[in-house]
Amino acid sequence: MCGIVGAVDRRDVTSTLTEGLRRLEYRGYDSCGIAVLQQGALRRVRSVARVASLAAEVAEANLSGMIGIAHTRWATHGAPVTRNAHPIFSSGEIAIVHNGIIENHEALREELGVLGYVFESDTDTEVVAHLIHHAWKKQGGEHESDLLSAVRHALERLHGAYAIAVFASSDPGRVIGARAGSPLVVGLGEQGNYLASDVMALAGTVENFIYLEEGDIAELTLDGVRVVDRAGHAVQREIKLQRSSTSAVELGPYRHYMHKEIFEQPSVIADAIENVHTITADLFGAGARHAFREIDSLLIVACGTSYYAGMTAKYWFESLAKVPAQVEVASEYRYRSSVASPNTLVVVVSQSGETADTLAALKHAQSQGHRHTLAICNVASSTMMRQAQFQHLTSAGPEIGVASTKAFTTQLVALFLLALTLSKQRGRLPAAQEAAFLDQLHRLPAKLNSVLALETQIVAWAEAFARTEHALFLGRGLHYPIALEGALKLKEISYVHAEAYPAGELKHGPLALVTSQMPVVTVAPNDALLDKLKSNMQEVRARSGQLYVFADADSRIASGDGLRVIRMPEHYGSLSPILHVVPLQLLAYHTACARGTDVDKPRNLAKSVTVE
Ligand code: F6R
Repeated sequence: MCGIVGAVDRRDVTSTLTEGLRRLEYRGYDSCGIAVLQQGALRRVRSVARVASLAAEVAEANLSGMIGIAHTRWATHGAPVTRNAHPIFSSGEIAIVHNGIIENHEALREELGVLGYVFESDTDTEVVAHLIHHAWKKQGGEHESDLLSAVRHALERLHGAYAIAVFASSDPGRVIGARAGSPLVVGLGEQGNYLASDVMALAGTVENFIYLEEGDIAELTLDGVRVVDRAGHAVQREIKLQRSSTSAVELGPYRHYMHKEIFEQPSVIADAIENVHTITADLFGAGARHAFREIDSLLIVACGTSYYAGMTAKYWFESLAKVPAQVEVASEYRYRSSVASPNTLVVVVSQSGETADTLAALKHAQSQGHRHTLAICNVASSTMMRQAQFQHLTSAGPEIGVASTKAFTTQLVALFLLALTLSKQRGRLPAAQEAAFLDQLHRLPAKLNSVLALETQIVAWAEAFARTEHALFLGRGLHYPIALEGALKLKEISYVHAEAYPAGELKHGPLALVTSQMPVVTVAPNDALLDKLKSNMQEVRARSGQLYVFADADSRIASGDGLRVIRMPEHYGSLSPILHVVPLQLLAYHTACARGTDVDKPRNLAKSVTVE
């Protein structure tokens, strides 16, 4: 969370910084700011408005300079007010932007107070600014090469996570970046050198990147980039070429990224399976073939929507491959004392590959003795992909809307391929069945298009949902996690309170909430549980609840009093959850639009949750 950018350039840096922030805004949007060195002085503009208005404020303030840093904030310490917006200054001499959390900030704040530092913000970041200033002054201060070592000494005092960019007023040619626990890349260009939280921030500016490693500190000047490790020893880091198209992050004809991303699902899924013509462990990286043979169980760890993908896949692993699977929320697993089994495959699922809890859970699993780990992730260069033993890229392309949509369905495709792989390795996937599943996968994009064609009917339902404050979602079996995902989508972007239950649980408590005012969304595929589900629907109807049912064409559920039906295509077997989640995404999207919320940037949330 929070996005940072830094630049040392032969040209004015303000447009590179504001454009970088615009592309990083998905990481947090409580406030934003930019600081440059202008005529020997630190100058900054900070705002609680969106990045779009920052550029105008920067122009109005005549801000310009050849070095600078910028930040878009997801508030942790301190309210989202201008005073707490970054860049943060120390003594008018040091400027810093920070992504992460400093856990020992209170003790450091006291110590710095005794040294005479006066705090102007409530942020944990300000202690880092003052620590750097203090270290810099202590070692003589004015000499230009001192800034890197001042930063290094200050960082030694920190507990927690950070990615920072720093410059000093008396050092006009240098920006220092450092990371531990939060992502930071260095971009190398002809006109200058840059720092950013992710490569997309610099797309179109540079194509050569260094992915800083844990504890790295980088010094950027116009002459080049020097990287040292925590101990201050020079280290060589590989330079990677990464050409990113800026069109992938443009909105095109859509009003919101979420809408664009929902409609991209057929094409990104087609891309993801384009070259999959046989089921093989090689889809998960070199060595997977051998390692997967040893596997006798799965532990899937993730957060939020990615966790629901794992929950859905549990049904596939157990029914298709007969491999027991356990699914855990990463923030719980990482602190739980659990029993590791050397033959368990730990699967971390994440869109960003930077979610702090999931990364920590992966580390925890490894430290507990789990030998085999697999990352299913949408960002090839992410920390998670680098830290897991095996990797599978979901290929959804950049997902900008905070609410995850295409990342979820591509995760499901990847997890389904994993279930088929384990099934085949265990002799449970006859060739004819493999061919049938592959055929079904390749026809999935066309099926998704027919679900997307239901949009107009869903818009009509959304009008009703926009007027409600509560909703229940029901599903059974493979589709219970889809009901959970539908409820999560609705609450996070439209702020309608929504809860999901396995339909059979309703009578054990939540049925008390059902009145004629309660919309009850029901995921009703024509699977083995349909008759049971129909009984649960009757329980709702008998209490005047308002049923909104997404039924397969062959589910034989007719509209009636208190029962509205949108008819999906015919039942799609094991892959049905991938179809059934799409109308729930659209329902949440159109409800949010009708309520006038900020769909792509819902309140209090951010895309990449890089803090605990
Ligand atoms: C919900 C949503 C979040 C993320 C969660 C994990 O729409 O996007 O619940 O799924 O924060 O993020 P990743 O997948 O990046 O680890």
